[in-house]
Amino acid sequence: MADYTLKIRRYDPESGQAAYYEDFDVALDPERSVLDGILQVRDDEDGSLAIRCSCRAAICGSCGVKVNGTSVLACNTRISDAAASARNGAVVVEPMGNMPVLKDLIVDMDAVHWKKIQRVIPWLLPEGDPPEREYIVPAESMIDVTQSMACIQCGACVSACLSMEVDPEFIGPAALAKAYRFVGDPRDAHTEERLRDLAEDPHGIYDCTHCFACIEVCPKGVDPMNQIMRLRRHATGDYDIKDENNGYGHEKAFVDLVEKYGTLHEAQLLPRSYGQGSLLRSQTEPRAIRQLVQSLPTVVNGLKSGKVSPKKALIHHKLPDQDQVRRIFHAIESKDERLELNMYIVGEGDVGPDETDGEVAEESRGQADKQPAQGETGDER
Ligand code: SF4
Ligand code: SF4
Ligand code: FES
Repeated sequence: MADYTLKIRRYDPESGQAAYYEDFDVALDPERSVLDGILQVRDDEDGSLAIRCSCRAAICGSCGVKVNGTSVLACNTRISDAAASARNGAVVVEPMGNMPVLKDLIVDMDAVHWKKIQRVIPWLLPEGDPPEREYIVPAESMIDVTQSMACIQCGACVSACLSMEVDPEFIGPAALAKAYRFVGDPRDAHTEERLRDLAEDPHGIYDCTHCFACIEVCPKGVDPMNQIMRLRRHATGDYDIKDENNGYGHEKAFVDLVEKYGTLHEAQLLPRSYGQGSLLRSQTEPRAIRQLVQSLPTVVNGLKSGKVSPKKALIHHKLPDQDQVRRIFHAIESKDERLELNMYIVGEGDVGPDETDGEVAEESRGQADKQPAQGETGDER
């Protein structure tokens, strides 16, 4: 047994009082969880403390909170680990972010998380007569979507998402990971419509800023950001969807510039993005010209801060070993088919691409049943 202090954020909308922090001392075995500590407080000191929980085994997804500022499952977070990373000795426990607080540690998942899940039409939309017996789906197709199926809807990624902080309308990591579950399923007949919808939505797949926060906090290894990148690759690479948000143009501009210079020519990125990758089109198409004019304040800010200088804008040197970069591009582009490896699946033997063609290694397994201890990185992903 050891003594720990929990600094818990309290809020009761019915009291009319603003939110405040309250300290509680608990005595617990170091192996026990932060949730055990919270429940001890509720049982022994203050029965009005509100927390949502059920399984206490990282399965039901209901006990999401922030511990020392990081979104976690309280039942999957060792109290001794939390105490070790605490500043000023106390383990700070707060409700998850990006969702309204209902009481103490309980947030309104319906208002944000579940609403966004509904937004992506989270069910299969097959077409035509159903088969006489069951649908037969190739094993590799299901393995591709297994990672997104491992989600327990805890909302930790939603809580941690930096884009959602800036744009609360962003569909968000959990819902977009859910969208990939249906985009990647061959039984669904609306793949292109789904992708077009998510690409054209100004709060859709191109609203993610690659910050990795959702990957870091997800307790199930769903890697929502990677599912979003898969959605983008399907939208651009397979369906050539040129969206109104310039997501396609931005990616094309980015890749083309790196191929040409080896590093990013920042001054050309914006105009090329508006011109669907082309500098010429950005200066001849009325829509692109309009967007460029609207971006003038950004350009002025860049000049003022020194990030962009007129000299840098005009002259951008290539890397001395630029040919090496180009060789990587050619090696990838010369392949007939894009080989998308879902790194969620790990095999125990050496399984090369030829051996996985149509057959998935028997030893393959997902991480859905794995409960990584707090701080474990899951390197095998
Ligand atoms: S990577 Fe994208 S979806 Fe994930 S937390 Fe960052 S902005 Fe949000
Ligand atoms: S993706 Fe991960 S963090 Fe997000 S809701 Fe699902 S299990 Fe939780
Ligand atoms: S109580 Fe079920 S995941 Fe924590």
